[in-house]
Amino acid sequence: MFKKSLIAVAAASMLTLTACGGTGSAAGNAGTDKITMGFAQVGAESGWRTANTKSVQESAKKAGVDLKFSDAQQKQENQIKAIRSYIQQKVDVIAFSPVVESGWDTVLKEAKTAKIPVILTDRAVDSSDKTLYKTFLGSDFVEEGKKAGAWLVEDSKAASDTVNIVEIQGTTGSAPANDRKEGFEEAIKANPKLKIIASQSGDFTRSGGKQVMEAFLKNNPDIDVVFAHNDDEGLGAIEAIEAAGKVPGKDIKIVTIDAVKDGMTALSNGKINYIVECSPMLGDQLMDLAKKVIAGETVPERVVTEETTFTQEQAKQVLASRPY
Ligand code: AHR
Repeated sequence: MFKKSLIAVAAASMLTLTACGGTGSAAGNAGTDKITMGFAQVGAESGWRTANTKSVQESAKKAGVDLKFSDAQQKQENQIKAIRSYIQQKVDVIAFSPVVESGWDTVLKEAKTAKIPVILTDRAVDSSDKTLYKTFLGSDFVEEGKKAGAWLVEDSKAASDTVNIVEIQGTTGSAPANDRKEGFEEAIKANPKLKIIASQSGDFTRSGGKQVMEAFLKNNPDIDVVFAHNDDEGLGAIEAIEAAGKVPGKDIKIVTIDAVKDGMTALSNGKINYIVECSPMLGDQLMDLAKKVIAGETVPERVVTEETTFTQEQAKQVLASRPY
């Protein structure tokens, strides 16, 4: 646990820790110099999530942080339980990636009362009380949706007829599903020919994407484009499109978000047409922020991840060196 007995700076650090909400775990943690972090992960729903978990676990090891990890299996009640257990265990810092945006105030207040700082990673909460967490590290999901929409606007410039889009949303109520939808809808306004004819959640999973796409294909004979909120859903959609005797990437174009290895492979093979990157490699930045927060340093309220986009040609060039 975090050492509060660094002799020369002891008094000053103790004051700072108390002032910033500190660890609140002085009695339990004395005698060791390891930070203990409780990390409540969303689940293992996608390739992105697996890469994110690996990044957090590896970075914790590198940074000498004692990581207590839990997988909420995409259920908010499991995440709340995990956070309460971290509070009971008097960890030094709690980090979590909220399954959905709403309903966190009570448990976050409990952490605040226990003087355990909270860092949001990957996904945001919609709480109006910004004192309930120290910082939020992750992507700008609205921007990601806009990038996907901007590509489609450009790609369908020459279209003479209506372009029928089906949208496979992420987990209902989650920040990436809400924000990507918003950004995409905003961007496609630039071409009134672009129309979303159906929109449903695939829960960010491959099986969900496949199921939703099967239903879309059954009910809509003229689908031109799939906008999937993540690669896994897009990969599921590919299976459904092929099973229906159509060619993904040609008969039906596909744009997705993430850029994980499987997605990038499908992009290189021409089955996906464009991918907007969402980086899961948040571990190093998370550990840095945690150390700063615990040391009482000021951290930015928001740390936005740097990301790019990939065409089929660009995917071919980087595929071999893609780390996840
Ligand atoms: O919150 C990030 C999103 O969650 C990723 O785009 C998706 O793959 C994951 O499940």
